[in-house]
Amino acid sequence: MISLLQKKRLEYRIEIPQSLRDFQNVCWQKKKGTLPVKEDVRNWFPKTCDQNSYELVKRSSKNISLRIGVVFSGGQAAGGHNVIAAIWDAIAQMGDNSQLIGFLDGPSGIVENRCKELRKEEIDGVRNLGGFDLIGSGRTKIETPEQLKAAMKNCQGQKLDGLIVIGGDDSNTNAAILAEYFVASGCETSVIGIPKTIDGDLQSQDIEMSFGFDSACKTYAEMIGNIARDALSAKKYYHFIKLMGRSASHITLECALATHPNLALIGEEQKSLKTIIEEITDLICYRSSEGKEYGLILIPEGLIEFIPEMKQMIQEINCLMVDKSSEKIIEKLEKQSRALFLTLPESIQQQLLFDRDPHGNVALSQIETEHLLIDLVKKELAQRNDYQGKFSPLSHFFGYEGRCCFPSNFDAKYCYSLGLLAALAVRDKLTGVICSIQNLKHSIEKWQFKMVPIVQLIHIELRKGKRKPVIEKTLVNLREGPYSQFAIMRKALRLQDDYIYPGPMQFFGDFEITDSIPRILCL
Ligand code: FBP
Repeated sequence: MISLLQKKRLEYRIEIPQSLRDFQNVCWQKKKGTLPVKEDVRNWFPKTCDQNSYELVKRSSKNISLRIGVVFSGGQAAGGHNVIAAIWDAIAQMGDNSQLIGFLDGPSGIVENRCKELRKEEIDGVRNLGGFDLIGSGRTKIETPEQLKAAMKNCQGQKLDGLIVIGGDDSNTNAAILAEYFVASGCETSVIGIPKTIDGDLQSQDIEMSFGFDSACKTYAEMIGNIARDALSAKKYYHFIKLMGRSASHITLECALATHPNLALIGEEQKSLKTIIEEITDLICYRSSEGKEYGLILIPEGLIEFIPEMKQMIQEINCLMVDKSSEKIIEKLEKQSRALFLTLPESIQQQLLFDRDPHGNVALSQIETEHLLIDLVKKELAQRNDYQGKFSPLSHFFGYEGRCCFPSNFDAKYCYSLGLLAALAVRDKLTGVICSIQNLKHSIEKWQFKMVPIVQLIHIELRKGKRKPVIEKTLVNLREGPYSQFAIMRKALRLQDDYIYPGPMQFFGDFEITDSIPRILCL
């Protein structure tokens, strides 16, 4: 049984750019000139580092039946099912014998050859709906020689013309490593990446936005708006709202622009813990002196890793955790980090020691930064003799709520076009490239399509104590764009209750509401 809205979303007719309607008239063509790849990265990708970008050009082309494998990798993001639907529609148009194979539960499905053929009826049942449940997802990092060999054997065994990896920075790093290994080993399966992550940090000069960001932010902004109105009605609580986004604060920035909270912390400002606590406490005292004992504070999930002293401590723990037991770790921390660790509440200490994911990332979504800040602010308020107010904090974490919602119209359309581009890239035998759509803030006919070598996004980073090639995350730019807009308004928001209530994501009605795009794309 499905809900009425689910039924309506299945019937939603996606706008497709004119140039992607008939694949016999278009193909990928190499752009002139290669872009430089960092010297230390070249050593990791000798076979694929000198690739050009590709642009879509009008030229009569031959369609052929294709057998493509597809995998979801990493955290869920709304619109993934539309990528798969588009790949299916594209290859069905290219040849009657085309087949789509879904690898199950993420990259481990490729290594272990766990997969299923995807059928039209199944795909038709998930169009324009959220989730990755059609084939599942996972975070396995493909890096050992055994894993690479198994992945290649399975792609060859499945006779795949192409493997499409739908993922974020770590997952597309996987795609680049696989592409390099396949080329070096003479395997002809193309590996194509699709930019996915609600975090919005997989960006580059060519990649304006990853899919899922818009839907997640619209979901969170609705909830923040609702809480703002509750705060303004009851006038008795301070709401500390942590928002997902493992590293970059793009989600917090977008939601702040959409809802106007009293304070939004931006991790990239790299303030010390002391400064952050003073800033929040000052705000509470200031509002209290004006008779306001309530407010809204947004906290990015990644904040803790930007606080310089915390960052240092987490890096030390990461290195020590590679092969040591957690009890010894605390003893082995540098003096300052150890002292900091011991001042933290026990719950946070435990959360900092949770297992890292296969890519070496700390489980930031499990660290209750919002509780830590509340705790420290309480202590700071107790020190302030001039504060006579009543501080009643409430904590919230909006994360998983926004990853599997129905995709916004923007994400639905964006994902569908990304899927078509990826299928075309397999037909034209590209490999080690990621789909890029530019001009997203304009109407769909003005969108520009490109394929970009993934190696151009890669740098070398310390992971699990070792230097490894990984796609560089794009952080909030503190010099221009949406941050500057936010910086202008933030002072006034401290006292004013200038909250905005975005309301729920809309699928029917005025185009400017149903098809709105992220603010950070426009500023
Ligand atoms: P991706 O980068 O893989 O898209 O995942 C992003 C994210 O949603 C982060 O915002 C969050 O920290 C993390 O996933 C949570 O991971 P998990 O689903 O493993 O708990």
